[in-house]
Amino acid sequence: METCVSEKYFIKTFGCQMNVYDSSRIADMLENEGYTATSKQSDADIVIFNTCHIREKAAEKLFSDLGRAQLIAQERQENEGKTTIIGVVGCVVQAEDTQIMKRAPFVDFAVGPLVYHKIPKLLRDIRAHRRQEGVVDTDFPAISKFDFLPENKAQGACSYLAVQEGCNNFCTYCVVPYTRGAEYSRPVAEVLKEARRLIATGTLEINLLGQNVNSYHGEDENGQERGLAYLLHKIAELDGLKRIRYTTSYPADMNDELINCHRDIPILMPYLHLPVQSGSDKILKAMNRRHTSGDYLRVVEKLYRANPDLKMSSDFIVGFPDETEADFEATLSIVKQVQYIQAFSFKYSRRPGTPAAVMENQVEEKVKKERLEILQNLLFSYQEKFNQACVGKVMPVLLEQKGRHKGQLIGRTPYMQNLHIETDGANINKIINAKVISATTNSLSGKEL
Ligand code: 5AD
Ligand code: SF4
Repeated sequence: METCVSEKYFIKTFGCQMNVYDSSRIADMLENEGYTATSKQSDADIVIFNTCHIREKAAEKLFSDLGRAQLIAQERQENEGKTTIIGVVGCVVQAEDTQIMKRAPFVDFAVGPLVYHKIPKLLRDIRAHRRQEGVVDTDFPAISKFDFLPENKAQGACSYLAVQEGCNNFCTYCVVPYTRGAEYSRPVAEVLKEARRLIATGTLEINLLGQNVNSYHGEDENGQERGLAYLLHKIAELDGLKRIRYTTSYPADMNDELINCHRDIPILMPYLHLPVQSGSDKILKAMNRRHTSGDYLRVVEKLYRANPDLKMSSDFIVGFPDETEADFEATLSIVKQVQYIQAFSFKYSRRPGTPAAVMENQVEEKVKKERLEILQNLLFSYQEKFNQACVGKVMPVLLEQKGRHKGQLIGRTPYMQNLHIETDGANINKIINAKVISATTNSLSGKEL
């Protein structure tokens, strides 16, 4: 294989953890081809934007970044005589490929999230022929891209591992079933192989990813379909792994076997992201969610029983079409009952092609804004309350990045809180015991024991 040792790549990632994972796999491929990473866009021979389409604002950001990338590419050409290849991957490509090529015709390639394994070949073609027109590929291929990706390596002490992709749920507000396609589960052996590689290259914590991860149904060696609970047990048996998480879960797919994993697997962290979206049954129905608020609360109760230390987080949408004050109150009520320690909340954003975009009684922007503020204040109050309750406690912290000050590292507690600590830099990528000495809404600080 031809290598181009001096060539550099730069990837900017928008959106969810799945995109972070995809970017790391694209990096694996580019490094295999002989490219090296740079964190400075103006040094890069290849610039890739991995995009998100989930809300309007996420997609808009892409076009301003592309404009800037074109200017940087022109400067490199004029000042250094260097050519820059600009590529776009991810969900915006799947949804708006023609828009991208219309608004940013200088883009060299745009590939959807299911075909990014084709990037090395595309790059070789582009280099060989220096095309005038960008290449677009938004295929939903029959053979999974995972079959073509090179061996992975750890992204650090905490790594993502995609076990499932796509979604069959068709929540009426959501673009994911259209951009990521139908559900696909990777075979058990393939997942375990990737997990072993991550551990061998330094990972202590694996976060199993899927748009709807608890619908996982991968085949084992005998061709038998296995669920996420089975996979979690298998992963927990791997030597050297200290922590497991999984995300994102769908409430109706939280079966008892999976709930019991929170009782039976000690390295499964006591923190679960389980989006409810709304507390109103009328809105949940209009969203095409397969659960009521009561169903959701029953699942949470079972989880708390399985592991009394477990804490929850969630996603919320305010201002979904036809959401009344009473519906919104029901959302506040569920927050008060579950007492989430973290949450992500959004104003409903009309996504073209989704059923909710054309529903009647769209909620005014002003009302959405007011509701979001009220909801976030409530969510923050529980987040802060939990963080304050941690003061004085001793927790194992996985130190995964350098802090802003010299001698400071930032780690994650079992509950996904960021904890700042003054400690020996050699402790990076290790788990140490820390005593929490203070807390804010967003983070903790601690001292080493
Ligand atoms: N508008 C606002 N929020 C949305 N989400 C998904 N689609 C939309 C939309 N159209 C939120 C949901 C989901 C999270 C990833 O993004 O809360 O759980
Ligand atoms: Fe989107 Fe609903 Fe699927 Fe989540 S479960 S990815 S919100 S369609």
